[in-house]
Amino acid sequence: MSQQAQQLQEEVQRRRTFAIISHPDAGKTTLTEKLLLYGGAIHLAGAVKAKANQRNTTSDWMEIERQRGISISSSVLQFEYGGVQINLLDTPGHKDFSEDTYRTLTAADAAVMLIDAAKGVEPQTRKLFEVCRMRGIPIFTFINKLDRPSREPLDLIDELERVLGIRSCPMSWPIGSGDRFRGVYDRIGQEVLAFQTEGEANVKGRLEAIRIAGLDDPELFKLIAGPRKDLDEAQELHATLKAELELVEMAGDPFDLERVLKGQLSPVFFGSAMNNFGVQRFLERFIEIAPPPTPRNTTSGPIEPTHQKFSGFVFKIQANMDPQHRDRVAFMRICSGKFVRNMAVKHARLSKEFKLSKPLNFFGQERVIVDEAWPGDIVGLLDTTGDFRIGDTLCEGPLFEYEGVPRFSPEHFAGILILDPMKRKQLKKGLDQLSEEGVVQIYKQRGFGDKDPILGAVGALQFEVLQHRLRAEYTVDVRIEKLPYIHARWVTGPGLDPDYFERREDTRCLEDRDGFPVVLFKSDWGLRYAEENNKALSFLKTAPIVTTSKQRR
Ligand code: G4P
Repeated sequence: MSQQAQQLQEEVQRRRTFAIISHPDAGKTTLTEKLLLYGGAIHLAGAVKAKANQRNTTSDWMEIERQRGISISSSVLQFEYGGVQINLLDTPGHKDFSEDTYRTLTAADAAVMLIDAAKGVEPQTRKLFEVCRMRGIPIFTFINKLDRPSREPLDLIDELERVLGIRSCPMSWPIGSGDRFRGVYDRIGQEVLAFQTEGEANVKGRLEAIRIAGLDDPELFKLIAGPRKDLDEAQELHATLKAELELVEMAGDPFDLERVLKGQLSPVFFGSAMNNFGVQRFLERFIEIAPPPTPRNTTSGPIEPTHQKFSGFVFKIQANMDPQHRDRVAFMRICSGKFVRNMAVKHARLSKEFKLSKPLNFFGQERVIVDEAWPGDIVGLLDTTGDFRIGDTLCEGPLFEYEGVPRFSPEHFAGILILDPMKRKQLKKGLDQLSEEGVVQIYKQRGFGDKDPILGAVGALQFEVLQHRLRAEYTVDVRIEKLPYIHARWVTGPGLDPDYFERREDTRCLEDRDGFPVVLFKSDWGLRYAEENNKALSFLKTAPIVTTSKQRR
């Protein structure tokens, strides 16, 4: 094997690219922060915070980021742990929940599903989970906030199967919760991690796991009794732990790497991100189990990440990242080969050659030129000429395209009214570009051409974002009029009659940008009724994939 091939193989092997999926408030920011502290900055955990609080400067933080090789961008956090290069993709999840969040998942090789132990599976988690499921990527579960009163762990595990339909394999098991939280039992290493608050853990450095000889080991009992030495309580907790673990052993699924990698079995961990408890153990196991970049499908068949020629695809476009310069950045996930600055690559959709002279990484507000990058890494490309679209493939050698990034079914719909009809052209341009970025989706009313489109959005606030950006970037004022639909489905199959859906009071049939019929529904009931009464048709939650070069424009 040539030296280059060997280096490529090594770099691929040491990469893990993943995203955290969760419902707001489950603790994603907290967990991310703690994971970053392990990126070489663990000893600074307290110091970083203290500094930031005292002086409130961002430059110190950025300096630390730089020294530690942690890069903070709005799209990806990169850090190294134990020789492994980790790319943690940011999935906007709060008010800015949008199609972007879904699309980012197409760039990930694994997902960490973060669940609040008091709340269980929540709606946003479910939606994001479905996208991961569709891609068949491995899904790890971290059940958080055990330091607070929590639901029974068996109930939480059961919910994963009931609500999400995924089998799970607890890697650890909690001992009590809330005030009675004593720690977790690591089923793999047969060890106990005794719960400490972050303060204690920081003083002691790494949490020491205590190996026990079995569930009847007196050492385990001592650990559960803890400093309070409440023996009655310890007895109860011990008995519960034993009973629950017995059930898990009997009725649970054994760990099976192959099933984990296919996304059929989720390894589950318990902890408390705020207290930095269970996070390091989780990170270590995650690195061991999660896959490095794997082959991806293209129009020329699957491409291995170790394929010598560089290739990648654009999964996200962000405009105005720097308000000083009105710019657009296309985020590219590298899928194969080595990427070097100034390399000439082909843009598959445009069949055009590009020289990528300014590939970027983002350190806080600052941009840093990337000289080289490897499969699994994310690189920002300044798109001054508007050549990039979501789903575009860039590659060396013979042209091919990665399977497109799907469009996901929106749940909010609206009509749009222009206040100054002289600005129709700007409105069209604005809508075209902003829908390219995934701010909203545009549907045509049948027979109306481009006139009076209907807008769809995945997140409720996207219409406000659209209105604001149309005004700020395209000087067009619009009024948005919400429509009472809550589901959209791409409908395909023999005998599809769009008029059938137009005739019904609670549905409408529109066309997406590629001319595919999309039916809107006002209620869950209406959707179910349509599915049950039109068995020959398929009602899809994502748009049929069209490779970009074949897209009708
Ligand atoms: P998000 O990004 O998923 O929305 O969640 P975020 O990390 O902001 O956490 C939401 C709240 O939950 C925060 O509290 C955070 O401190 C808390 N939290 C996160 N992990 C844990 C945990 O393991 N245990 C407990 N008890 N709380 C946790 P907040 O009051 O909203 O903010 P803050 O004032 O604490 O920053």
